[in-house]
Amino acid sequence: MSSSGIFSSGEDDVFEHVSKRVMLGAVAALAVYQRESLIILALMILLEPIFSRVGVKGTSDICGWLRRLFYLSKLNCAPGFIPFIGHTVPLSRAVGAYPCTWDLFAFWSTAKAPKPVRVQIFTRHCVVVADPEPIKRVFNSNIKNYGKDTEFAYNPFLDILGTGLVTSEGESWKRQRGRISQALRMEILDDVVDIATRAVDRLCVKLEKIRGTGEEIELAEEFRLLTLQVIGEAILSLSPEESDEVMPNLYLPIMEECNRRSLEPWRAYLPNKEYFEHKNRVKKLNAYVIKLIRQRWTLKHSVTATPNADDSIDNPHADILDRVLADVPKSEYGPEVERQMCDEIKTFLLAGHETSAAMLIWTTWELVKAPEKMKIATEEAKKVYKNSEKKNNNKTPSRDELNGLEYIVGALKESLRLYSVVPVVTRKCLGDDYLGGEFIPKGTTVIISVQGVHHREDLWKNAQEFEPKRFVGNDTDETGNYSYLPFIQGPRNCLGQYLALLEARVVMANLLKKFKFTSSRETNGAKHTKMIPIAPADGIWFTVD
Ligand code: HEM
Repeated sequence: MSSSGIFSSGEDDVFEHVSKRVMLGAVAALAVYQRESLIILALMILLEPIFSRVGVKGTSDICGWLRRLFYLSKLNCAPGFIPFIGHTVPLSRAVGAYPCTWDLFAFWSTAKAPKPVRVQIFTRHCVVVADPEPIKRVFNSNIKNYGKDTEFAYNPFLDILGTGLVTSEGESWKRQRGRISQALRMEILDDVVDIATRAVDRLCVKLEKIRGTGEEIELAEEFRLLTLQVIGEAILSLSPEESDEVMPNLYLPIMEECNRRSLEPWRAYLPNKEYFEHKNRVKKLNAYVIKLIRQRWTLKHSVTATPNADDSIDNPHADILDRVLADVPKSEYGPEVERQMCDEIKTFLLAGHETSAAMLIWTTWELVKAPEKMKIATEEAKKVYKNSEKKNNNKTPSRDELNGLEYIVGALKESLRLYSVVPVVTRKCLGDDYLGGEFIPKGTTVIISVQGVHHREDLWKNAQEFEPKRFVGNDTDETGNYSYLPFIQGPRNCLGQYLALLEARVVMANLLKKFKFTSSRETNGAKHTKMIPIAPADGIWFTVD
């Protein structure tokens, strides 16, 4: 769709004309107010990195910025707007408080749904959307017009994500997505059942030690380590010991700093002790991952390797690294391929563990709070595992048999709705468009309030209640109606969703059939206000019987 009004025809000419005027004005100002102008110029140059993070990339963007201001001022505006600084005050008050930033986006967007709502974060022009129709347009029918917002939302995480799948665009994304979807084909999911079973067995040993003693355990952290072990073994065949050694010392502190930088962006520019420690850890993690890639490549191409050793796609027990490396021709392998693979592997680590851990802990917490629902889940787990043991003489049920854990899967999906562990997803509008009947100018940041959609009473009956049955025996999430978005929908949906739900049902079923959890702290259940994915604020503590 094209825009109407003074900017619609010969738009570039108009901008060029306006830009020239702005430049002339700036030169005139420089001549008259030399000292002040020079100070402003120096400040603009010095603050350029910060400006570009918050929305103004350089003087050439000024016209686009004014145009967004002009058009977006016609939209419904979220409360608390102050000229020039926009919604900075209510949003900064929400950092570390209740309602938190994501709650505000959800309230603002649902109050005006289906219309998008205007929000200005410092100088950045945004619209928040919580309606399936415009969301479908952004994620699917007009996806080409909505790029990943790497310089804003993902910026603090670029040390991990680099140019991996989550942040890539265009041809590079298509190539990577094709390669990785192939690597995540069905067989790897069979392996995930065994990998997750081994990981939950290790957790069970820990829980067995404190059973009946009244000693507490913080399960959110245990799930974090467990999901790291699973993803570490599925991608890189890391042993649990190696995972427990490398991840908490290198990877987790990097993630913590990245999370802090998303709300305190200046940390990325302050050359203090923490800054250098972070830099050093990133360097070490990169070196570690590249070493693993190199070792695997050498092994595959060594003289002693079996003739079809590099044909890993045909090896049912190859890990994801094997499968991705199998696609790389010998002539292309080099430092650039290693760097790209390193980014892809780190992307998998990031995308694949904290989200899954959050889903596991919220599901456990909700089931513990609702004994009648816990009973249904526990009985289902016992039944499915007992039937499988009888039939297979084998402890681990097949993937088909695990489909019988319908209620547990319903509980996992429901916790993803209720807690919306990824509460917002952002995109950059690359060309003028209409969303929910409103004109959205090029350059606007579109914030999809996933939490807003998930909590809309008109879309979800008793939206604030945990009700796993919503997802039992129907395809609410598969209908493509864009009201259930934990993994988003459309061509850029989550590549790991089947892996995540499979791993989680194995973990939940094994824990529920063996243990009874009792909440042991008042603070249990509070949500973290600063981090995505949404995790518990002070962990969740249980005693075990
Ligand atoms: C409950 C668990 C999970 C949730 C809630 C979740 C959620 C999401 C969301 C919301 C996105 C879209 C992000 C965006 O477009 O900005 C995404 C993308 C992605 N996820 Fe997941 N995820 C989960 C588990 C996993 C796992 C286990 C893996 C890896 C094995 C994974 C790999 C990816 C990848 C590679 C992408 C990027 C896809 C692309 O851009 O083409 N995720 N995920």
